[in-house]
Amino acid sequence: MLDEKLKKNIRAAADVLLQGGVVAFPTETVYGLGADAANPLALRRVFEIKGRPSDHPLIVHIGHVSLLEYWAGCIPEGAWRLAARFWPGPLTLILPRRAHVSRLVTGGQDTVGLRVPDHPVALALLRDMGVDKGLAAPSANRFGRVSPTTAEHVWAEFGEQVDVLDGGPCRVGVESTIVGFSGNAPVLLRPGGIAVPALEETLGQKISQPDAAPPSLRAPGSLASHYAPATPLEVWPAGAMGRRAWELAAQGQHVAVMELSAELPHFPGNQRLFRYPMPKRATAYAHALYATLRKIDDARFDRLLIEAPPQTANWQAVHDRLRRAATLYCSTEDQPQGNAHEEII
Ligand code: TXA
Ligand code: MG
Repeated sequence: MLDEKLKKNIRAAADVLLQGGVVAFPTETVYGLGADAANPLALRRVFEIKGRPSDHPLIVHIGHVSLLEYWAGCIPEGAWRLAARFWPGPLTLILPRRAHVSRLVTGGQDTVGLRVPDHPVALALLRDMGVDKGLAAPSANRFGRVSPTTAEHVWAEFGEQVDVLDGGPCRVGVESTIVGFSGNAPVLLRPGGIAVPALEETLGQKISQPDAAPPSLRAPGSLASHYAPATPLEVWPAGAMGRRAWELAAQGQHVAVMELSAELPHFPGNQRLFRYPMPKRATAYAHALYATLRKIDDARFDRLLIEAPPQTANWQAVHDRLRRAATLYCSTEDQPQGNAHEEII
């Protein structure tokens, strides 16, 4: 599956990592900025390159589910079930760390985030590094910005600063789902590549979602911005978005519109409005999301308007990312009041 040249590049990248270097690599979700999880200098370099606060933990990528106990102890039954069912795959488990796991990785906490990525390049890289090695890696973007889903995105973020293993565009396109445990009870910490109903089916129980109630209205500036493009971004239901688009264009603003429905009014001959039709299926939308945001940033619009997707479980990760990125987030026509409860995770 991997051609000889790529295999050679992977072996070279493994050497760089074992010698304390930092290498960006593809996963099925987004590209990661990888370092040997046991090398403090390399870990510090990741925080430095990314501009990330040091109390913000990194996920450790491992090569196989059988290595879970090397990294974590006191593993609840539910975690075993999820790992057996979804690894390799876009699921991160937060578990009590083993004593050898560096506090630099865990942001000083006693838990460690672990996942087995479902990407042949990432898995080959881990194999070449050695069985007891873990790749600590945040998404390969500057802190707070849009995650990269192609090698070109990583180059655009960091230029010559890091080596990048090119594994093509990421299949999933949004980050992994993160599940922690409070005792034995599973808790959703970040919606992501695997939707909650699939997790609950495997667990045979509900997952609690501390910040799940979809806040439909978000006041500008009240929340920490994350996953954010440079272009100011507003989320509106279809009807309101059409009106908002005309209003902004009439003010002379150049407006990009990420639309889902074909029902939006046409903008004939209006050079100030540019339409980006988005896929109607949640998985295809997620796959396209970050690349589209980057494309729109590159085109330097004054404003980006995004049509709110449906409020169903399989759109949860997309809603989460849009809410964090938006300066204004209004997802339903009736605009119920509510304060967004957000954390940068
Ligand atoms: O899909 C993904 O998860 C990608 C790819 C590269 O694997 N990685 C990713 O990493 O999104 P990052 O660092 O951008 O986001 C991971 C989040 C962090 O914000 C952190 O809050 C959370 O995972 N996390 C990691 N370890 C944790 C821990 N021990 N306790 C609580 N949260 C943790
Ligand atoms: Mg990130």
